[in-house]
Parts: sequence; structure tokens; C-alpha cells
Amino acid sequence: MKKHNTPDALSTVAAEPQVSATEGLDSAWNRVVGRRAFLKGVGVTGAAALVPAALSTSGAMAARTATLTDGDVAILQFLAAAELIEADLWQQYNELGGVDGGNASYQAALSNLDGDMPQYIADNTDDEMSHAAFLNAYLQSMGAEQVNLDAFRTLPSSEATGAQQIGRLTNLQKLNVDTSWYTRYRSTQNPDLGATFPQAITIKNQPAIPLNDKETPPGTSQPVPPKSTAASRMQAIANTAGFHFAYIEQGGASLYTSLSLKVSSLEVLRIVVSIGGVEVDHFGLWHDKCGNATAQPLAGVTDPQTGLTFPDLNAPPFGGEDFQTNLILPEPASFIRTNLPPVSVIRPSLTENAGAVATINSFTADLLFEGQTPKFFKTVMALARAADAAERHVH
Ligand SMILES: [Fe+2]
Ligand SMILES: [Fe+2]
Repeated sequence: MKKHNTPDALSTVAAEPQVSATEGLDSAWNRVVGRRAFLKGVGVTGAAALVPAALSTSGAMAARTATLTDGDVAILQFLAAAELIEADLWQQYNELGGVDGGNASYQAALSNLDGDMPQYIADNTDDEMSHAAFLNAYLQSMGAEQVNLDAFRTLPSSEATGAQQIGRLTNLQKLNVDTSWYTRYRSTQNPDLGATFPQAITIKNQPAIPLNDKETPPGTSQPVPPKSTAASRMQAIANTAGFHFAYIEQGGASLYTSLSLKVSSLEVLRIVVSIGGVEVDHFGLWHDKCGNATAQPLAGVTDPQTGLTFPDLNAPPFGGEDFQTNLILPEPASFIRTNLPPVSVIRPSLTENAGAVATINSFTADLLFEGQTPKFFKTVMALARAADAAERHVH
């Protein structure tokens, strides 16, 4: 089978100005070319992100490797990285607020959005872990390199009761949550056709998990509405989490849709659309639940420390088609061309708006990677560029 190289990705990464010559084999460039070097028997050392698959590669495995294009490998490797990132953030939510989580006050505040929130958080966490593990196992089974981001698990944990004290890939303690997905999916306009959308709520520099036990004691009761400073703070944190859950998962829904269009192998396409469907499922669930933070009886919570308020989005000046909280299914929107009838679809799906680089840029703006090293950004951006540069080849 014809091997398809990704010259765009390679040249883009090679031209990456931040990649200094001193980084040698640790460079992002080598992460991308590593697989090819490995297959030639050269081997790669020092690449933290890409793990050489089965150094014991058997003849049978090597034969199967030849069935994947470089583009398909790049797509799977980026998705594995994205799922490791998702799993890391969901694990943090799960330790504190999942059904077996350790912070009763956070669990109670999340349960004010929906009584099943802790169970859903645990299940979503399991899903992401299974996605990451499967994608890496599949890569290895095909003789391709797995992705391992363990070297970047350096960010601090929450000090609140329930959180393990371990290094994290992602930051949830100070987030800019883009809530324009909320108005986008209620609009008949499509970002792929140039439309832009306002924020539903402006969430800037806000925690999505409790930071410590001092400001949010884990035994605090969480009545609706909250009746103490600590309860209001915790409810605002839980509300921010609710909107962050949906933000993350709508990004996953668009990412998988975008990358599916570049896949060559039918088996890889089956993987991408089948996992992608679950990201859509996640988004739909959280879209429904986070709306309860901005509907009666919970609407109106204000964070006593930051002033962030969650208004009633069903009441003036909000309400109507753009804000009504139970309009959670995608409004039919323009798609492909404006002279076609509106259709209910995942959007965006174009590479520039929904692809791998767009996803990393969005997560960076979210402050999800706040505190990460330049090497981390180079690594994930190299993986992202390679995935976006994949081209579909059907034989
Ligand atoms: Fe996932
Ligand atoms: Fe997900």
C-alpha cells in the first residue's frame, strides 16, 4: 500500500521558530518523524511523547503496520493525546465530585445541577480513559508508536479534600470558559460559514474545582439557593464546572468530526466515528445539565470572591431562542452552502475551526494548559499539525 507522507506537517514543524537546535532528539520534529525512523530500524531516543511500539514487533505486526498511512497514524496519535488530556481533567473532576469522589460539598453543589451529576462525571471519566487506552493499544497493535504525556504531568493538584496529590497535565483552578458554543448551537448560523457567536456567560479566571478546604470546607451544606459565603463560592465553582464540561465535549464532538474527513483506512474511520459519537453524547448530556445552573431555582448564584454571576438565562434580558436553557438540541443551521436548507449538524467541522490545531489553541485559551512547559506546547502542536495535515487516500 502506498505510504503517504505528510510534507506539510513536517515542513511546518521543521520551520517552527521555537524549536531550537539544542533540543536535539527531544524536538517536536523528531516526534513526528520518529515513527518513520523507527520503521527503518534507526530507533528514536529521548522522545517523551511518542513511545516506540512493541520493540518486539513481530513479522505479523510489521505487516499490519503497512496498512496504515502516515496520516492515519498522525490522526490516531493526536486523538490519543487529546484523550489523555481529557482523561486528566476528568480524573480531577472525578476525584472531587464523582460518585466515589472525596469532596461532599462539591458533590452536593454539582448535584444541585442534577442529582445524577456525580454518576455522570464518573462515567465520563471512564469513557475518556477507555478512549486513550484503546487508541494507544490500537496504535501499538498496528506497529505504530503510542503517545505518552506522563513527562508533562507537572501541574499542581487542588489542595481540597478528595484530590490526590499528584502531578497533572491540565489546570482546572483558573479557567476562561468559552461559552459561545451555547449560543452557537441555538443559532441558525454556522461558524464554518463565517458566523461568530456571543458568550452566554463570561467566565474568566474562575476555578472549576474547589481550591482548598479553607474557602470551601468539604462539609458545607449546599442548599438552593446557597445561604453562606462558602456555599455560594462552591456553587459558583460547580456551575463553572458544568459549563466547562460542555465546552470540553463540544470541542471533542467537532474535533472527531473534522478528523474523520481525513482518514484513509475504513477501520480507522470506524474507530474515529465510533469514539466521536460518544463525544457528541457527552456534549448533549452536559449541555442539558449546565443549563440548570442558569435556570430556576438555582439561577442567580454569585461568587462572593470573584463576582461571577450565573443569571437566569430564561428571563429578560436573556431568554428566547438564543438563551432558553432547555433548547439543548442543535438548532438547524446553514451547512455546506447557504442556498441549502438549514440542517441540524455538529459544527464547526472545518479544519481551521474544529481540527487538531484549533482544538489545542482553544484549550490553551481556556487556560487548560496554564503552567505547562514550552516543550509540552511544542509536543502537542507537532502532533496536532501532523493530524491536520493528514489527507484521505482511498484505494
Ligand atoms: Fe474521549
Ligand atoms: Fe469526551
